[in-house]
Amino acid sequence: MTPPIIIAGCGPGHGDYLTAAVRNAVTDADVLIGARHLLELFPEVKATRLTVGADIPAVLVEMEKHRDQQMVVLVSGDSGLFSLARRVQQHFGREHCQVIPGISSVQVACARLGIDWNDLRIISAHGRAPETTVDELRHWHKIAILAGTRAATEWAADLLDQLGTDYRAVVCENLTLAEEKIQQCDATALREASLASRTIIMLLHQEVTL
Ligand SMILES: C[S@@+](CC[C@H](N)C(=O)[O-])C[C@H]1O[C@@H](n2cnc3c(N)ncnc32)[C@H](O)[C@@H]1O
Repeated sequence: MTPPIIIAGCGPGHGDYLTAAVRNAVTDADVLIGARHLLELFPEVKATRLTVGADIPAVLVEMEKHRDQQMVVLVSGDSGLFSLARRVQQHFGREHCQVIPGISSVQVACARLGIDWNDLRIISAHGRAPETTVDELRHWHKIAILAGTRAATEWAADLLDQLGTDYRAVVCENLTLAEEKIQQCDATALREASLASRTIIMLLHQEVTL
């Protein structure tokens, strides 16, 4: 019988934030599929490795050749937040996929700041400008922007300028990793900052106390 494709949320990067469910699935995998830094989380696993780069369709086609084997697709953070999971489900059919959730980088950012995320607006500026407006975002006192590129940093700085001085930025880089760094800044400092590829920019209203 063809096994389901397992989509595994691998957390924000540090092995301590990987669940036992994901570790067990990876141990039993014949084929591991994921970005290089995710594959490197499992150096001891002997499975065949397919590295995911910019060409997602090519990886999906390559995966078809392994359909009779146990495939585990590694995604960062949680699979339900701006991940490869949706593309894999669309290609192979949701009914043929099994999802193991992971700890999202957004959860870690909120935990580090000691704030709830039940009233948090999450948007991704990673790879594209978000489809939203300042007027819509003004309704939110907590905004998390998945960033990590120069364009994303500049987009967030422009947004902060437009939201005005009621808001400030808290930049969360490399969460859970040895290089983790969390710092508050204004729009000017944000625009000039050279940030890690793994960065979340939180824009918080002054009523949100830290
Ligand atoms: C393609 S999205 C995937 C998000 C992921 N599914 C999650 O739940 O965290 C990649 C973005 O996640 C964020 N990210 C992932 N790991 C991170 C980390 N350790 N520290 C800060 N941000 C991180 C960055 O904004 C990065 O651009």
